[in-house]
Amino acid sequence: MVPINSLMRSFRLHQAEYEEKALEVLRSGWYVLGKEVAQFEEEFAALAGTKYSIGVDNGLNAIVLGIKALGIGEGDEVIVAANTYIATVLGVSLNKATPVFVDADEYHNIDPAKIESAITEKTKAVLVTHFYGQACQMKQIKEICDGNNIYLLEDCAQAHMAESYGKQVGSWGIMGFFSFYPTKNMGGFGDGGAITTDCEELSTKLRALRNYGSTQRYKNDYEGHNARLDELQAGLLRIKIKHGQEITNERIRIAGRYMSEIHNPKIELPMTASKCTHVYHLFVVQAADRDRFRTYMAEQGVSTDVHYPTPPYLARPYAPLGYGREDFPITKRLYSKIVSIPIFNGMTDEEQQIVIDAINHYQ
Ligand SMILES: Cc1ncc(COP(=O)(O)O)c(C=O)c1O
Repeated sequence: MVPINSLMRSFRLHQAEYEEKALEVLRSGWYVLGKEVAQFEEEFAALAGTKYSIGVDNGLNAIVLGIKALGIGEGDEVIVAANTYIATVLGVSLNKATPVFVDADEYHNIDPAKIESAITEKTKAVLVTHFYGQACQMKQIKEICDGNNIYLLEDCAQAHMAESYGKQVGSWGIMGFFSFYPTKNMGGFGDGGAITTDCEELSTKLRALRNYGSTQRYKNDYEGHNARLDELQAGLLRIKIKHGQEITNERIRIAGRYMSEIHNPKIELPMTASKCTHVYHLFVVQAADRDRFRTYMAEQGVSTDVHYPTPPYLARPYAPLGYGREDFPITKRLYSKIVSIPIFNGMTDEEQQIVIDAINHYQ
């Protein structure tokens, strides 16, 4: 069976380096907030093209702390994509702010043309998600945020190193939020996350917020969290950063092969917006008769998945907001047809061929 993803395969690509680093950290006798985290932060900021990065324990907490650091809370609204993964929305609602959903476009990203009409006097920020690995149309979105004097925030959990108008995701807004959950493009070996920013004041506050609100040992200035990235994870992630371009290029290469070799009128391939790049965290096609297509693919030995089965505005925690099934027509249509096909680092040419042949022979 061709798997949808294989963490073991991507581990093996740089196995010796991970094993050496794991032993080095274990033998160092220092496990929380030490030199590995400090170096990870420097290297990740350089990779993302920002002045600062702050390591945290996961992608959700990156968003939670980021929104908290801006003082956004009860009575405030934050605009999010209707089709994002629920973590984006939780980052808003766990701060007691209200998520306001905006429909997707044909690229599976928030539709820039629909943002402005969702802005009210309560809107404090637009939190875009670079969904599936494709950068949003950031020039247009930044203009809207600047014009309305609201913060621009980026959920980059699925899109490490993607670019919009030649500028990396995570460097457009006041903050970018990243996840290093193992399945992510630069996934680690457990949970991990980071916040990127150019603002020194925010970086200092975020470093405190992730560590009990502490600005100095036993001096607590904020009601903080324990949301620290640990040394072992930071050390291992430094190896992912080192190979970041290679990891990204491999995914783009596999996707390029799919784009040029899959030809089946029953299967729609993903589209990439002009001036935006796609780093293919997921390769999401559309099939009108999705269940039949998935059963067929399984019979051909190819795993598929659906990212995601339910849009967040229909998830139970958000029922009180009163959204209905018909509110976001593009998202509704996409959610009925989306299917993810295998793409992962370490995928063999033969596996790619099996996927291509299976789709091309689907009737
Ligand atoms: C778009 C998006 N945002 C946020 C997250 C949260 O990241 P984490 O799982 O590291 O908390 C994820 C992934 O899980 C995600 O896909």
